[in-house]
Order: sequence, then C-alpha cells, then structure tokens
Amino acid sequence: MTILVTGGLGYIGSHTVVELLKNNFQVIIVDDLSNSEKFILDSIEKVAGKRPVFFPFDLKRKELLSQVFDAYQIDGCINFAAYKAVGESQEKPLDYYENNLFSLINILQEFKVRNISNFIFSSSCTVYGQADEQPIDENTPLKTPESSYGKTKQMGEEILKDFATAHQRKVSLLRYFNPIGAHPTALLGELPIGVPNNLVPYVTQTASGIREKLNIWGNDYETEDGTAVRDYIYVVDLAKAHVKALQKLIASNEDTVIDIYNLGTGKGSSVLEVVEAFETANDVKVPYQICERRAGDITIAYANADKAEKELGWKAETSLEEALRTTWEWQKYLESRNS
Ligand code: NAD
Ligand code: WQD
Repeated sequence: MTILVTGGLGYIGSHTVVELLKNNFQVIIVDDLSNSEKFILDSIEKVAGKRPVFFPFDLKRKELLSQVFDAYQIDGCINFAAYKAVGESQEKPLDYYENNLFSLINILQEFKVRNISNFIFSSSCTVYGQADEQPIDENTPLKTPESSYGKTKQMGEEILKDFATAHQRKVSLLRYFNPIGAHPTALLGELPIGVPNNLVPYVTQTASGIREKLNIWGNDYETEDGTAVRDYIYVVDLAKAHVKALQKLIASNEDTVIDIYNLGTGKGSSVLEVVEAFETANDVKVPYQICERRAGDITIAYANADKAEKELGWKAETSLEEALRTTWEWQKYLESRNS
C-alpha cells in the first residue's frame, strides 16, 4: 500500500517513515522543508535501506498536491505537516491557522473526491489543557488550549470527525504526549532551529555547551520536587504506534471509524528528573538555574495509554534514560556534521 506522509522529513515523520518502510509500505513524502532539511531523506534511506518518493512543496498549494494524487494510487495519509511552536503561534495566529488547517483540508478534499480512506492525524496532549485528574485518558474532557497552536489541533480533530462521519471514512487521532529522543543509529532526530523551547533539546544544547545553563521554569508547582511533570515518550516507540494505528484502520471492515488514542508512557517525570536522567545516561553535567514559571505552562500531564495497548497492541518500551542517551548521540552527530 502507498501512504502519503506529509511532514515526513520532520522529527516524528522521519522516524515514522522508517517504520512504514520496514513494514513494506510504499511512502510518498510531501514536505516544504520549512522546519526540516533535505539530508534527512538520505538518512532515511541509510536507516531503512529504501528511498521514499519525495516532493518538496507546501501543502497549501492545492494544484501541486492534486498532481501527486493523480500520479500515485494513494491508500492513506499520515499528516505530520504543521507548524508547532507554541509561543510563535501566539505571535502569528493566522499563519498557524492557515498552515495547519488549510493543509489538512486540502488533503481531505483529495481524499473526498478520490474516495480514499485511512487518515492519521498528529494531535497532541495539549488538547486536554490542565486536566482535572491524572492520568489523562481519552475520555478526559478537553479544555480550550492556551495557544493558537493548540487550537489548531482541537480544530483539526473536529474537522476529521466531521469528515469521517459525512463521507464514511476511517480516521485516527493520535494525541502525543512529549516526544523525545532520536533514532538509535543517530542518523535521525529533532532539528531545533534557533533557541529551543522544548525541554530536552535545551538540556542537550546546555550539556554540549551551546547554551550556558538550563532555565528551569518554576520549582513551586504542586509536585514532589516542585518542578512540572510531563510524560516523555520515545520517538521510535511513537513512530511504531503510527504503523499499528494505520494497520488497524486498514483492517477495519467498518465504513466509518474515528479512533482516538493517547500515546504516552503512562509515567510522569519532573523537569529535575529529566535533568538527572540525562546526566546519568550520558555522564555529563547540565548546569541549571531556577526561574519564574513560564506563562501558559501546566503543572502536570501524563497519559493513561491503556486504550492503545488494548486496541493497537502497542505500548511504550524505551526508558527515559535510554531515550536521552539517543538524544546525546544525535547531538554529537549533528556537531560532527557541522565541524
Ligand atoms: P517537525 O516540525 O519536525 O515536522 C513537521 C514537518 O512538516 C517539517 O518537516 C516541516 O517542514 C513540514 N511542514 C510544515 N508545514 C508544511 C506545509 N504547509 N507543507 C509541507 N510541509 C510542511 O514537527 P514534529 O515534531 O515532527 O511534529 C509532527 C506533528 O506532530 C506536528 O503536527 C506537530 O504539531 C505534532 N506534535 C508534535 C509534538 C512535539 O512535541 N514534537 C507533540 C504533539 C504533536
Ligand atoms: C516541558 C517542561 C517546561 C524548557 C509543549 C507544547 C505541547 C506539545 C509538547 C506539541 C515544562 C519545562 C522547558 C526549558 C524548562 N507539543 N522547561 N526549561 O510545555 O509540556 O509542551 O510540547 O503538541 O503542545 O506546549 O513541553 O518541552 O516545552 O516543556 O523548565 O528551557 O519543561 O516549563 O514544564 P510542554 P516542553
């Protein structure tokens, strides 16, 4: 089967393309390189032993997208392509709504007219906001996200539910918790452009001396050590969940399917625990200072991922330390490329 992977040169997309290729799917990537680099295509080929078809264009360009659907018999899509910087989305809300939602709708229009099913959407735990109870399961009420980015994820979910219902299609909404780590080969990983916002890239750059010290945003939360708690999920485990979710959609005899899964480890880790785990895993020091809380941050979020285990036969397998070890190997690889 042939799967369109949008954003397939990005962080989670590239790891998922490798898993799809390993499972004998044909892959067509559309990625405009707005947050990724072309060398990742070579890395995918090195890791998977196969080179996916690649089209470098913006999914907002409907006519180019239509040509891809004309040229290939596409059986499904995993839609990673989106802008994802929470802070930036507050400054440029229209860019976020335009990019994340127009891209999605353009693909769905092609799905509609060509009668294609099997659509997987990258959603986020951000749709739950600060949940009233932990762990968070799929029935936990959604809250209005703080950021325009988060709102594009909630809206994307609604668009897909309506699409699946109106046109009898199969969709899977995957709510990722906090993806971390890199491929064990150190050939694929996250490419932070500019100063990282996310914790693990910042920790990594601090350990390597690019940043002087990590700012820990608050130690006065109501958690065991006072720092905020998240569910850090290893990116290769996450990538494998996409293959399982896709296989389930394909195998389903129902016309209409709306699957929703939390993808996390089920375990919460505090910021200080992440720092310590990074130091232990890599035998390096991460200097840090405690700062004021970051605006919009929640105290705690970790998944109940039992539904994915029961229905997809998937669960996270990789420890925090192991994931952080791969991050460090990836950082060293990036530095060797730049030197
Ligand atoms: P990423 O930025 O590394 O990958 C996204 C890719 O999409 C990039 O390669 C970018 O160039 C491409 N892209 C963006 N807009 C495009 C467009 N209009 N046309 C074509 N290509 C376009 O991000 P990621 O971390 O791999 O995230 C993948 C998806 O998962 C995103 O939808 C993101 O919102 C979602 N998500 C990410 C996280 C996270 O923390 N990384 C958490 C939850 C959900
Ligand atoms: C984790 C913890 C920070 C950086 C974001 C998005 C969310 C989702 C995942 C896409 C927090 C603390 C961080 C630093 C720190 N993405 N921290 N110093 O905020 O859980 O979620 O990414 O859907 O939508 O909001 O992740 O990695 O930014 O932060 O102390 O330099 O680390 O305060 O407690 P977050 P994060």
